[in-house]
Parts: sequence; C-alpha cells; structure tokens
Amino acid sequence: MIGLWAEPGVDPSRLAVLTERLAGRMPAETLAEPPASGIYLALTAAGLELRVADMPWQGLRADWLDAGLDRRAREGRRALIARALGLRGIATPRILDATCGLGRDSAHLLRLGCRVSAIERSPIVAALVADAVERAATAGAAWIGGWCGIAVDEAPARLKELMASEFDAIYLDPMFGGEQRSALPKRDLQMLRRVVGDDPDAGALLEAARATGLRVAMKHHPRSPALAPPDHQVRGGRARFDVYLPASGS
Ligand SMILES: C[S@@+](CC[C@H](N)C(=O)[O-])C[C@H]1O[C@@H](n2cnc3c(N)ncnc32)[C@H](O)[C@@H]1O
Repeated sequence: MIGLWAEPGVDPSRLAVLTERLAGRMPAETLAEPPASGIYLALTAAGLELRVADMPWQGLRADWLDAGLDRRAREGRRALIARALGLRGIATPRILDATCGLGRDSAHLLRLGCRVSAIERSPIVAALVADAVERAATAGAAWIGGWCGIAVDEAPARLKELMASEFDAIYLDPMFGGEQRSALPKRDLQMLRRVVGDDPDAGALLEAARATGLRVAMKHHPRSPALAPPDHQVRGGRARFDVYLPASGS
C-alpha cells in the first residue's frame, strides 16, 4: 500500500489521474496529511515525488528536463550507449528500454532521435516516469514526440509477446546489487533501490531479450562480470555495455 498526498494548492484532478494510473497495480490510499513513517507519493507544484516520511525534503522525481541530460546529448551518437545499441546508420532507431527506471537513459535516447518504448515493473516508478513525460510535453520539448509509452509489467513476459520487427534493439540496465554506475545521482539511486530493491533475475531478463532475436545491450559497472559472454563490449570509465548481436550477426 502506498500513500498519496497532494500539497495544498495542487489541482485535485492530478490526484485522480495518479489514482487511476496505480489502479489494479498497487493499492493506494489518499492521505490528508503527509504520513509519519514509510514512503509515500507527494503531488507538488514541481511534479510527482517519491518521499520518505522522515526526510520529506529529499523527494525523488523523474526529471527529463534536467540540464545534465541536455549536456549528455551533445555527444550525439558517439555516446557509449548509442554505440552499444548500434544507432549509427539508422535514421530513427526504435529502442525498447526494458528496465526503464526513472527513464534517464530513455530521455537521452529520445534526444538522440530514437523512438523509445519502455517497460517497468514498479507501478510507483512508472507513475514518476509518466509525470516526467507530461512535464516534458508541457514544456514543449520536441524530442518527447519519440516517446511511445511505458508498460507496467515484468519485462520477460512482454518480451515473449514482442514482434521483433517492431524494434531495432533492446536496452537493459537492471539494478545490480553492490557497486553500480548509474545515470542517477547516488542519493536518488539509494531511494530508487528502496522501492525496487535489486534485480536478482537479471540473467533471466537477458535470456528473454536475446530470445527475441534482436540486438541487446546491457549496461554494467565497468568491473562487474558479464552475465553471459557478449559478442563485444563498449567500455567507458563509468560504465560498460555488453552487446549481444542477433544470430545472423547483423
Ligand atoms: C537501474 S534502474 C534503470 C535506470 C534507467 N536506465 C535510467 O536511466 O534511469 C532498473 C529498473 O529496471 C526495473 N526492472 C528490472 N528488472 C525488470 C524486469 N524484469 N521487468 C521490468 N522492470 C525491471 C527496476 O524496477 C528498476 O526500476
């Protein structure tokens, strides 16, 4: 059960939209006051935030308009993630981000001209992403036009039903335990981990992605072991991408 609290002055229709988004996925309770303990979702003027009761000043938002993402996009398709996903030579690559999280990598790929569909198993995290998408659209960000939506589900189940012709590549960035290099600041990563935990089923996820016959790129800490021998690796100081090519080697 997650508590939902709206800051005074927030349009009540936003609470209704949020309740609808979580319906059937996660029991939720509307709160008149912020709770004294536990985590809750707060609707604020700045957007939807995940908060911990004893640290209400440290809300976690998905922010797709962050200046850091604009800076990151200046590298263009020379970026490690772009090379790992094989974006070069494809005018509008269609990417499935099967571990969306707060969607910073999705937002980066959108800025690089991709069409991005996403999967996320946590309804709370998916609600934060939906809020970020709305704010980006309201701000008139042109790249948001490439966003194809987020499915709240277990990725392997979706991957089984996927038509390989719909995508050019699958991107995986599960939450590995221990050391992790993330697109997120450390404090945000800690809060995210509180909600989603680690992803001990990353091996099964990789298998399901490879079974689609599509190119797969999985992000790792530079020193962490590969889950299966990759066809090649794209290495940087902060992250390593293990790349699995389709059987044809394309
Ligand atoms: C490290 S975060 C991803 C961060 C993201 N790349 C970003 O840039 O913000 C991993 C996310 O993947 C989700 N996830 C992991 N395994 C999954 C699975 N099998 N199905 C759906 N979601 C999954 C987790 O719930 C978590 O939110």
